[in-house]
Amino acid sequence: MEKVKVGTTKELQGNLQTGLNGELAVPGDKSISHRGIMFGAISEGTTILHHFLTAEDCLSTLKAFQQLGVPITRDGKTVKIEGVGLHGLQEPNEPLDMGNSGTTTRLIMGLLAGQNFQTKLIGDASLSKRPMKRVGEPLAQMGADIAVTDGHLPATITGKQLHSVDYHLKVASAQVKSALILAGLQADGDSIFVEKQPTRNHTEIMLRAFGADIETEPDDVTITVHPDPKMHGIEMNVPGDMSSAAFFMTAASLVPNSKVKLLNVGMNDTRTGLYEILKRMGGKISLSNENSDGEPTADLTVESANLKPIEIGADEIPAVIDELPLVALLAAKANGISKITGAGELRVKETDRISAIVTEFRKLGISIEELEDGFIIDGRKHWHVANSQLDSHGDHRIGMVMAVAALLVDQPLTLAGANSINISYPEFFDDLGTLIQR
Ligand code: S3P
Repeated sequence: MEKVKVGTTKELQGNLQTGLNGELAVPGDKSISHRGIMFGAISEGTTILHHFLTAEDCLSTLKAFQQLGVPITRDGKTVKIEGVGLHGLQEPNEPLDMGNSGTTTRLIMGLLAGQNFQTKLIGDASLSKRPMKRVGEPLAQMGADIAVTDGHLPATITGKQLHSVDYHLKVASAQVKSALILAGLQADGDSIFVEKQPTRNHTEIMLRAFGADIETEPDDVTITVHPDPKMHGIEMNVPGDMSSAAFFMTAASLVPNSKVKLLNVGMNDTRTGLYEILKRMGGKISLSNENSDGEPTADLTVESANLKPIEIGADEIPAVIDELPLVALLAAKANGISKITGAGELRVKETDRISAIVTEFRKLGISIEELEDGFIIDGRKHWHVANSQLDSHGDHRIGMVMAVAALLVDQPLTLAGANSINISYPEFFDDLGTLIQR
């Protein structure tokens, strides 16, 4: 694995005529890797995670839990956690550095709110701009003491005895839901959380596997958390990350003469929005080797296709939230006008992804209109490079989507801030290279 060095501007070779071909096992799921460390830490006994994502975000979680007194060792992509139980974490000597990771920050807030010590959380410049009141406010209703800085990191968490609540979430966010569930495990009674819309449910599925008592109603949005569970370590294989596979699903669909097989990809239906959207757009994509023990997985075969435009509204957004920049790219090659709305959450990701996509797509001459909560894209307009210097905006997913876009342009481009891809996919350029026979 070759990490892209900090401050790197990467040359992107365009005009790929030969197509993308071959098989690829993408790295482990980011959401599941974070949770594997956290839930292993608060269980009794040993947890072993295979195919753990060794990218910067998940390493931030690993380090934070070591600082909280949890013995964790890593050998390549295998991580061993000696769980200390729900009441065995220790006060860290220094502030915990969350790096760029929103998932680490928000979930840890829910967990540490109920511990009997004080912790300070810090993060990088991007993370320090992201909203934290969405977690702090509902946790305060449970009796938590979390002091944020003008709604942002740095934050100081002073552990308290938490109280049970019946709370309706104000944002469709799995991170906020997960923080509340982790707080609920430490509350003085049963808590009920009601989501606005279903969001990724890895926390619920995995906590149950570790022995916690969490119920989800058939409506998929009402969750009951019973406190003080007896949790035990587990051994698990982290599925391939759908959000990483998504770059190759998009690239193979758009680059002529492509056929790519992506192995063992996580197919949890709270994450498969891009798969559904691509099929609706006329994409050629099929599943094989389907497995549904715990988190479902499958191999995905994707071929080049002529795509139709699409309309996507708020209901569909959570299952495709991290892949929306790729939906925009698919739309930019579809034979009509596509409209994506209800995606205002994109403005509070690692960067404002609506603004970043509009800026970068316009450099390639793509016809894109910015909406407050999405985009309108006319895929019929011929692309024409106005500026060959692309920028990741310090955001891993923007960096990778522009690297995929560059495959479709018949001149070399550059990508500034290419090192941001190390946040979720350090091997991205190597893996892309294995599919290209120039
Ligand atoms: C994540 C939830 C999503 C997603 C993020 C990972 C998680 O954020 O965008 O990349 O692991 O819970 P929100 O739940 O805040 O939308």
